[in-house]
Amino acid sequence: MTRTSDQLSLSLRLKDATHTLHEDLDKGIMAHGLFSSSEKYRNFVKLQYLFHRDVNAAYNHVQLVEIIPDLAARNRFAHVCQDMQDLGLPFPDEETTLDIPDASTAAGWLYVAEGSKLGANFLMKLVENLGFTESFGARHLAADPGGRGASWNAFKSAIDHAGFDPVLAATGARAGFLRVKNYMTAPGPLSAVSA
Ligand code: HEM
Repeated sequence: MTRTSDQLSLSLRLKDATHTLHEDLDKGIMAHGLFSSSEKYRNFVKLQYLFHRDVNAAYNHVQLVEIIPDLAARNRFAHVCQDMQDLGLPFPDEETTLDIPDASTAAGWLYVAEGSKLGANFLMKLVENLGFTESFGARHLAADPGGRGASWNAFKSAIDHAGFDPVLAATGARAGFLRVKNYMTAPGPLSAVSA
């Protein structure tokens, strides 16, 4: 039996809506060789810093915290800041974050940040070859305390049953992926926080 998109859970709709964007991003990250040397990996950490700074406030969104009680603990911004310090990377002058008032749109952005913890399992193995670990330089790639699968399933189940607007959530998820892609490709972003 084929399911129409109306019958799909929100998390599956978001996966469908961003599948191509994710593929592009994976290819781009690998094509830039961001895991091929410590120097290149520094660019990946800068990219992650910029993205996690953007989603920082969404992890404290009042309506989202109600449905995902451990939401604030899932936030990787402090970890990526520590990775920046481990690698001796300077922080940009302005402390900005995005204000995403609509809960459905914010859930879409968080889908991108939370889902990236799955791919991080593979990325962690690559960075270990460069000498970085979950206690130095690659803290933000570590699994959540309960394990990657359990954490991801709990997040998906929460957003699947919250009654979010799927169109707005997909808009947020696409915007999240595009933001990361921009940080990777637009002239300057990776140098925006370079020494
Ligand atoms: C910052 C960059 C990245 C972001 C924002 C990101 C985002 C995501 C998201 C949202 C998912 C969940 C998809 C779903 O099941 O609904 C995911 C899964 C996954 N990602 Fe990424 N990703 C990133 C980088 C990468 C890279 C570079 C790779 C590998 C080359 C990768 C490999 C994977 C894999 C293998 C999964 C599925 C894991 C599983 O189902 O067990 N990701 N990622």
